[in-house]
Amino acid sequence: MPLLQSSSVGSMDSMRNFSIVAHVDHGKSTLADRLIQSCGGLSERQMQEQVLDSMDLERERGITIKAQSAALRHTAANGREYLLNLIDTPGHADFSYEVSRSLAACEGALLVIDASQGVEAQSIATCRIALEQKLEIVPVLNKIDLPSADPERVSRQIEEVLGLSVREAPRISAKCGQGIPALLDTLVRRFPPPHGDQEAPLRALIVDSWFDNYHGVVSLVRVFDGAVAVGDRVQIFSTGRAYPVQRLGVFTPRDVPRQRLHAGEVGFLIAGIKEIDGAPVGDTLTLARRPASRSLPGFRRIKPRVFAGLFPADSSCCDALRAALEKLRLNDSALHFEAEHSQSLGMGFRCGFLGMLHMEIVQERLEREYGLDLITTMPTVIYQALTDSGELLSVDNPARIPERTRIVEWREPVVRADLLAPREYVGRVLALCLKRRGKQQEIRYLEGRAALRFEMPLSEIVLDFFDRLKSVSSGYASFDYDFLGFVPADLVRLDVLLNSKRVDALSSIEHRDSVAVRARQLARRLKEAIPRQMFDVAIQAALGSKIIARETVKGLRKDVTAKCYGGDITRKRKLLERQKAGKRRMKSFGDVQIPQEAFLALLRAERQG
Ligand code: GTP
Repeated sequence: MPLLQSSSVGSMDSMRNFSIVAHVDHGKSTLADRLIQSCGGLSERQMQEQVLDSMDLERERGITIKAQSAALRHTAANGREYLLNLIDTPGHADFSYEVSRSLAACEGALLVIDASQGVEAQSIATCRIALEQKLEIVPVLNKIDLPSADPERVSRQIEEVLGLSVREAPRISAKCGQGIPALLDTLVRRFPPPHGDQEAPLRALIVDSWFDNYHGVVSLVRVFDGAVAVGDRVQIFSTGRAYPVQRLGVFTPRDVPRQRLHAGEVGFLIAGIKEIDGAPVGDTLTLARRPASRSLPGFRRIKPRVFAGLFPADSSCCDALRAALEKLRLNDSALHFEAEHSQSLGMGFRCGFLGMLHMEIVQERLEREYGLDLITTMPTVIYQALTDSGELLSVDNPARIPERTRIVEWREPVVRADLLAPREYVGRVLALCLKRRGKQQEIRYLEGRAALRFEMPLSEIVLDFFDRLKSVSSGYASFDYDFLGFVPADLVRLDVLLNSKRVDALSSIEHRDSVAVRARQLARRLKEAIPRQMFDVAIQAALGSKIIARETVKGLRKDVTAKCYGGDITRKRKLLERQKAGKRRMKSFGDVQIPQEAFLALLRAERQG
C-alpha cells in the first residue's frame, strides 16, 4: 500500500480519526505497529522495534507514555482509498488523563482485548472514557494465535461487562498479522468520518505539545473547522498571542511536511513558540486575521495526585536539578514542581506527579539522562484541611501542616476503584480492599469472574495497592480507578525524631486508626535502614508530644570491617564498596547519617506488610 504523499489531501468523507485503547499488555502497541506496517509506513527492518513507543524508558518498561500519531493510507475492499489517523494512547492508570485527551481528537476507538486474558479493569475504564466522549467503539479480540485464546468466552464477557456488541468484533493476531485487512475494513465502515466546516474560521485542538531543541515547541493538533497554512498567523485562544506558522505536517509515523492542514486532519504545527506554556495542551488555535468566536471544549485540566520531595544528594547540584526538571516539564506538562527547603535535606523541590509510575519514571530520567543523585522523600497524596476561619487549605507536604489547633476538619481524596478477579480470589481481594478502608459499592459475577467496585481513599491505593493486589490474586486481578473527590477523615501527623530532633522530611499523614501500627513499622524499618554510627541513635515516632514507638540503633566503632578478622578479603572489599556506594545517598542530620532508604522506609514497610 502506498505511503502518504505530502501533497495529497482527502475529503473528510474518506478520513477516519481513531485511537487504540487497551488494558496493559493486551497488544495495543503491537497492533499500532502492525497497522503502520500494513499501510506502508514501515519496512520489515524498522518493524523490529515498536515505533510508536519512542522513548528509551518506554521500550525498557514496555509501556506507552506519550501520545503519538500516525497518518496511514488504506485501500478498502470497495476500492476506495482512506486516510486513517491513528492517535496512540498511553496504557497505564497513571496516564488516563492522556488517554482522554488523545480521544478528544478522534471519532472512534478500537478497544483491544486479549482473547486469552479476557476483559480487565482497564478495559472497563478506557471503554468508559471513550463512551463519555461519545466515540464509536469497536472491540477487537487479539492474540487469537495463542492456544489459550477463547474468543467465544471473551466475546460473552465483552457483551456482559462492557455492554458492547461483538457482532462485528474483528478477531486478530497483531503479532502474526492475521485479520488485519478485515479490521481495517471494519474500522472504515464503523467509524464516522470527521464533521467540521471547511469554510469556517480555523479551530484546531492542541492535543499535545512537546519541546524540540531545534524547532522549539511542536504541537500535535486536530483541525476541527477551517484550515491552516504555512505562513498564516495562528492565535492561541486562551492567551490571545499570535505566532507565524513555520511548518506543518503529518506523521506516518515519520514526519512528512505539508503546506496546509484541513478540517478533520491531525498533524503537527511549528510556529516559533519557544516556551511550552505558549501552546497549552487542550487549548484552541485559530487564525489571527479571522478568529473563531468560540473555542473548542478542550478537556479537563490535569492535577497531580502524588507529591514527593526530590533533593540532590550533593547540595551543590540544586541548580542542575532545577534545570533538569524544567527541561523535563517541557514535554511532560503533568509534572509540577516548586522549590522547597527542608531542615533535614536542605534545598530541593516539591514535585507533583500523576501517580507512582509517573514519579518513578521522572526519577529515573533525572538520574539517567541528567546524571543526578537524588534523595526522594516519602510520596504522599494531597489532603485538605478546613481551618477554624473557614479556609480550605491544600496540604501536599506533611512537614508543612498548619498548627493543629486551627484545623477543624481533615479531608482526604477518594477514588472509585474497579477491580476484576477470578471467583476463587474474591475473598482475598475483598479482604485487601476492606483493610485499605474501602467501602464496597457493587459486586457482580460473570463468566467465572467477579467485578467489584469500591470507594477507597487514594492514599491507601496510590503507593503499593497494585502490587498487593497482584500478590493476593496470584497476578490474576486487575484494577483501575477514577478520582471522585474529597471526604472528611480522621487524620493525624506522625513525626519522626532522631536523637530527640524532629526530621521534617520523615513526617507523614496517617489515619488515626492505623497510626500506632504504622509508627511501630516505621521505627523498625528505620532501625534497619540507618547504619550503625559511632554513638547510639534513638528513633522515636511521635504524635504531637506523645511518643508512640521507639527503637535504638546501637553505637559502633568506626571500622566496619573490624568483624572480618582480616580473613576473608572479598568480604572485606565488598563491605567497603557497599559503604562507599551508600555514602553517595546519605544525608547528615546533625551527627546522624541518614541513607536514602530511610526516607522511603514507610513505603517499604507497607510493601512487605
Ligand atoms: P502497553 O504499551 O504496556 O500499554 O502494552 P500494549 O497493550 O501496547 O501491549 P504490547 O503491544 O506491548 O504487547 C504486549 C505483549 O503481547 C508483547 O509481548 C507482544 O509481543 C504480545 N502480543 C501482542 N499481540 C500479540 C498477538 O497477537 N499474539 C501473541 N501471541 N502475542 C501478542
